[in-house]
Order: sequence, then structure tokens, then C-alpha cells
Amino acid sequence: CGIIGAVGRGSDTLDVLVHGLSKLEYRGYDSAGVALASDSIDVCKKAGELDELRTALEGRSVAGSVGIGHTRWSTHGPPTDANAHPHQDCSGDVAVVHNGIIENYQELRDELASAGHTFRSDTDTEVVPHLVEDELRGGADPEAAVRAALSRLEGSYAVAVVIAGVERIFAARNDSPLVLGISDDAYYLASDVPAFRDHTDRVVYMNDGEFAALDAGGWTVTTLDGEPVEKPVDTVDWDPEETGKSGYDHYMLKEIHEQPRSLRQCLSERVDELAGTVDIDDLADLNPRGVQFVACGTSYHAALYGAELFQQAGIPAQAFLASEYASSPPPIGDALVIGVTQSGETADTLSALREADRRGARTLGVTNVVGSTVARECDHVFYIRAGPEIGVAATKTFASQLAALNLLALGMAGGDDTRELIGALRDLPGQVQEVLDESGARAVAETYLESDAYFFIGRGLNFPVALEGALKMKEITYKHAEGFAAGELKHGPLALVTDQTPVFAVVTGDGEQARKTIGNVKEVEARDAPVIAVTDGQSDVERYADHVLRVPETHPRTAAVLANVQLQLVSYHTAAELGRSIDKPRNLAKSVTVE
Ligand code: G6P
Repeated sequence: CGIIGAVGRGSDTLDVLVHGLSKLEYRGYDSAGVALASDSIDVCKKAGELDELRTALEGRSVAGSVGIGHTRWSTHGPPTDANAHPHQDCSGDVAVVHNGIIENYQELRDELASAGHTFRSDTDTEVVPHLVEDELRGGADPEAAVRAALSRLEGSYAVAVVIAGVERIFAARNDSPLVLGISDDAYYLASDVPAFRDHTDRVVYMNDGEFAALDAGGWTVTTLDGEPVEKPVDTVDWDPEETGKSGYDHYMLKEIHEQPRSLRQCLSERVDELAGTVDIDDLADLNPRGVQFVACGTSYHAALYGAELFQQAGIPAQAFLASEYASSPPPIGDALVIGVTQSGETADTLSALREADRRGARTLGVTNVVGSTVARECDHVFYIRAGPEIGVAATKTFASQLAALNLLALGMAGGDDTRELIGALRDLPGQVQEVLDESGARAVAETYLESDAYFFIGRGLNFPVALEGALKMKEITYKHAEGFAAGELKHGPLALVTDQTPVFAVVTGDGEQARKTIGNVKEVEARDAPVIAVTDGQSDVERYADHVLRVPETHPRTAAVLANVQLQLVSYHTAAELGRSIDKPRNLAKSVTVE
């Protein structure tokens, strides 16, 4: 979910909130709503995407110069108008938006219900305005009422509260992100910077257990108990233009095409081309003897790739799904625990990193978002510098994660072929551009549009590429897709293979792995499955393929990045032909801040 708040914008407040929500939709888009406070509170909220809210707002006047808003990814209760935020108390004088999960909500709800409170939604959030109402009725002043209500909550939250007749917004954070935006005469709060980046570049990142109060005259941050906290004001350097579509039909397509640039950005900071060295001086003393990666979704696929790189360099490494690791971590020993996360806010990944930290491990965050929770909580951070990614399906950040993990592995473990690999990384942005310019992915997508299932196979570094190819396909086309280690196909999934299941085989180089994968290609070909080879042309896989998606010949590590670009394009064009909601696929959110 995403939250936004603004004070000091006078009659622009509603527009500022709705614009802010449009920048936060990547966090969820099941429903959206706003509350504006003056002597009373006006709330407007609607199930569905933000346009539904916009339409609802056209027909009515919602006024006030202090406001909060919310865009939702459902956890408690389906996406209905009633379950949309903001939520109110019985009197209608308190409105609350919330991101996270209140674990003790059932207890609180029972207690409030028996004291006569009536609930209108299925959400956990609704207990908060009722708790505030109780405190106000008991005579507490507004700020004390909010603090007291929040102190009853267990679980994760970023909340913002407005109260009728009070020209302030109260907000607090515990385990869910919250950032303040500071300008000369207006103040903002949001789950993430893009929500107010068009108005200011000055930000204050809130930490867990902190409470903020904003009014037209300024802002304060204290602990929940009221102790003052000194907060630095940081400046963010994102260009607001970067978050537009720049003429592309979808953010996803724009971001696929931005890969050469984001890869250059990632590499330029860390690679000294003349010396042929990688500069990770800030991480030099880490010197890991073992590595455990934790990550989710696409980042997990990058983590699998990263683990393989460290293994190749002789450092034992494994990748874990963060959600599993958090509840049953393996023995850590003196391993370095690396969290790979685009957003730096994924609750599962944070939870795994915190568990590792509790067990005394050193932690490193590999993330795209400067100032994100992972960046701030880990002992060390490595930024992938891909620039903002809006499309829910990760594309350019995956490529930059792979590049960043190459730099980390090289910097930490070295290897005989360091110079050769640095050369391959240097060539990578140009080669990605070649793939983008010459890809035949669209024709392949059109050919297999009617298929019900798509399989992806690869070995070694191309195994995570196969998994990622399938994940992209599922996410944006809603078609059944599976990625397999090529050798595993014959141990079960081959039963599903028919002439109706196109198999994408990622085969680069001409070594042992390529030879064996070609063996697996023959197995599916013998079952009449159409084969699409994604290859650099070094092996003879093309002889067994119905279609070929070529990538330039290069180092096996960078070949995986190039092959992935072809698969991104196949999924994109399939989804575009099918008319899917590419940037905001159903049921998903870009940043999932609940476990
Ligand atoms: C969500 C997104 C995925 C993403 C995953 C991890 O589930 O829908 O696209 O890969 O979170 O996100 P992170 O920000 O940690 O990389």
C-alpha cells in the first residue's frame, strides 16, 4: 500500500494528494481514497484503480487544506469501497490511512465493539480511528490521543491521521516505510519519495518507533513517547522527468529500453577501466568466507545468479527465499548475508536480514533505492543505480542487479579472468542496445499467442534466466509459465510437454552446459514442442530450434543478461498483444511491505 499526506498547499491539497497517489500506484492499486480535514472531514474512496477515485471526486466537493490519501494492496478484506482507506471512527472526526498489518487487530476490534463502536470494514486498519476516538472522548488532546492509540498497536505500520478541527497531520512508522518531504511553505509525508518529488527534493527518512507532526508552520519528529529526535534533512537527486513514460506505451517497455543507460550508471561508479579493476573499497574489509543471499521474486533470481558467481570464485554461497529464511534460517557461521532487493522495502527480505542480524551476521544490502529501509538497516550497502523503476514487473533493475553482483563477486573474490570480465561488462550496455534494436521477440510472441503454457529452460547461470523469463511471462500475460533447470525437465515436467507448449531454451557458449542443454532440447523436440533458442550462436542449438533469438557472443556471465532481455521482450509483446494491464498486473504490487 502507499500513503501520502500534505499540509500547507491550501486549495491545491486535493490535487497534490491525487497526483501523489498516481506515483504510488506501484505499491498497490486495488482501491484508493483521500480525506481532507477542515472543521469536519471529507472522505472519498473507491474500489479499483485511481481513475475510479478521480471520477468519484468529479461529482462532489471535497475540501480542506490538510489531507491524507492511500492506494491499497489488499491484505484484510477484498477490494471494496468500504475496505478502501481512509478509515474513520463513529463520529467521522478522525480519518486514518495505514500501510502494514496490525497483528492484534482482532483483540482490539472485539474490545472496541463491546464498548459500542461500530465497524464498517473488514480491515485491520479501522481499529485505529476508533482507538483515537476513545482517547479524544476521554479528554486527551489530539496529539496525545494519536500517540496513545498507536501505543496499543502490535505489528507493522506506517500511519497518517487527520482530525476534524486540527490543522495537523500525525504520522508514525513501525516496520513500514515513511518519509517526510520538506519545502519552504508546505510539508508532505509518503511511503516513498516519488509521491512528492515534483514539489520538493528535501526529505527526512523516518525510523521505526518515530512519530511526526506536520502543520503549515513546520514539522517535528519525536519518539512515540515524545522524546525529541534530531533528524537530518537529505536531498534526493532523482529527476522528476525520469518517472514519466517518455513516449513509450508502457513504463515496462521504457524501462526495458533504459537498460543500456542504467547498466552504464551501475558500472561507471565501480569500474576503473584503465586499471582493469573494480573499486569496492568501502566493502573491502568484508572479505567473506561464505555468502547467504536472501531475496524475493525477481531479486531472488538475481540472488541465484549471484550465488553461482561466488561459487565459481571458490566462496561457498547459497540463495534463499527470504520468506523461508526468516522463519527457519540455516546456520550462518561467519557468512556474510546479502539482501538483494530493488525497493529496499520488501518485508520478507527485511525480516530475513533482521533475523540474520539478530544471529550476529554481517549484512549487506544490494538495492536500487537510496535511503530505503534495507539501505539504512544493513551494515553495508551497495547501490545498483538503475534509476526509478515504475513498472511492477522488474526489468532494468534485474539487469543492474546482475551487473552489480558481478562487481561484488569480482571485488570480493577476484579471479584470473578479471580483466576479461571487466571488458565484457564494459561491452554489455552496447550489446543490450543491439539486442533491443534487432530483437525478433515480437514475431515469436505473435506466433505463440494462443499457447496456454510456456516453458523456459537453462543451466548454470542461465537457470535463473529461465526462472526469470517464466516469472515475467506469468506476471504480465497471466499465462501459465514455468522455468526449469534444463536437466530437471525430464524428471517430471516433461509429462506436460506437447506440441502446444513452446519451450524457450537459453543456450549460450559451446561448452559442456550448452551440450547438455541441447540434449534436453532434443527431448522436447521429440515430443513435438516448438523450441525457441535464445543463443549467442556458438553451439548448434539452432539446428533443433523453430525460432532463434540471437544475442551477441560474449562472456557467459554477461550472455545471461542479454538472453534475459530477449525474454523480457517476448513477455512484453505477448502481454501487449493480449491487451493486458502491463504496468499494473492484477493482484500484484511492486513493493510488498507485508510478510
Ligand atoms: C514484489 C514484486 C516483484 C519483486 C518482489 C521483490 O513481489 O511484484 O516484482 O521482484 O516484490 O521486490 P524487491 O523490491 O525486494 O526487489
